[in-house]
Amino acid sequence: MSDRLFIFDTTLRDGEQVPGCQLNTVEKIEVAKALEELGVDVIEAGFPVSSPGDFNSVVEISKAVTWPTICALTRAVENDIRVAAESLQYAKHKRIHTGIGTSDPHIKYKFNSNREEIIERAVAAVKYAKSFVEDVQFYAEDAGRTDNEYLARVVEAVIKAGATVVNIPDTTGYCMPWEFRDKIKYLMEHVDGIHRVTIATHCHNDLGMATANTISGVMGGARQAEVTINGIGERAGNTSLEEVVMAFRSHKELGIDTNINATKICGVSRMVSSLMNMPVQPNKAIVGRNAFAHSSGIHQDGVLKNRESYEIIDPKDVGVDENSIVLTARSGRAALKHRLHVLGVELSKEALDKAYEAFLRLADRKKEINDDDVLMLAGEHHKAN
Ligand code: KIV
Ligand code: ZN
Repeated sequence: MSDRLFIFDTTLRDGEQVPGCQLNTVEKIEVAKALEELGVDVIEAGFPVSSPGDFNSVVEISKAVTWPTICALTRAVENDIRVAAESLQYAKHKRIHTGIGTSDPHIKYKFNSNREEIIERAVAAVKYAKSFVEDVQFYAEDAGRTDNEYLARVVEAVIKAGATVVNIPDTTGYCMPWEFRDKIKYLMEHVDGIHRVTIATHCHNDLGMATANTISGVMGGARQAEVTINGIGERAGNTSLEEVVMAFRSHKELGIDTNINATKICGVSRMVSSLMNMPVQPNKAIVGRNAFAHSSGIHQDGVLKNRESYEIIDPKDVGVDENSIVLTARSGRAALKHRLHVLGVELSKEALDKAYEAFLRLADRKKEINDDDVLMLAGEHHKAN
């Protein structure tokens, strides 16, 4: 029996903050419904006080979606919290996500405040949010750069004030994976009442470690991962939903699993990329165009004998029809034979040898050989035979 990891998707809030990625309400509803079908537990639908459009989107998503919890973001400010509560009025399951910066640079430069005052503001925000909804999540912004002792005091105070989930964001993507795991572990071991709440990770990818830090945080005791589709988000992005889900599915020995229907992953990835006008890098793990493409002759030969020789995930498990064997000058005879077979052409050994020689000459001139080229080569050598 695996331990359940809750998936909190913030594509429509942290992801949508990216310049050029803005969606209108109809598009947001389309994404929210796709996230519901994917099986996410919580949809962060927006930051309602930020604009009438964001407020309206949270209202409409709340009406359109049935079983995931709908979450609205606020600062630790009464007006933000009141507006968020109003935007969530139609949600079947609702959560307010409030919080404040806890690192020294945030306390000093952002708030011109001090540690004690920040704790008071955090507690007041949680209590105020609690007067509207039962489910209140608190975020300690820049927890990645907050010293553990002080962070533990903040977390203990907000739990006492009624927080149900406490989010530990690595806002600037600064932590090393072992440091982030130790931070969560420290909280699990030093905070009174922590076992009554869920601890969440929210990692950014500034050093390319968002997924590693999320996995480490979960190994340290967190049971909610905050993620986005395709890892979109501020600057270098947030943790990718697809990477976290497939990392735990591929490593069953870790004993952690999610409710995600992985076969829907590639469809949702394409939908978000196209609606947000944000291309996915070709070599992106799980959802990139090349994630299941094999191009070297040795790899192609191995995969054609048994896909497990070079694949740790069956592409069908994430909604990709099959792996692709990309025909280039580095492809072997076996790859050409396989492509011909897929296209319904069987050649004798001699014809295949000749077609392969012609294929290599063509592949030296062209970067990639497509199906038309293959059929043309096959046609010539069929006739020649
Ligand atoms: O990165 C961050 O700290 C955030 C919080 C608002 C949760 O996005
Ligand atoms: Zn963030």
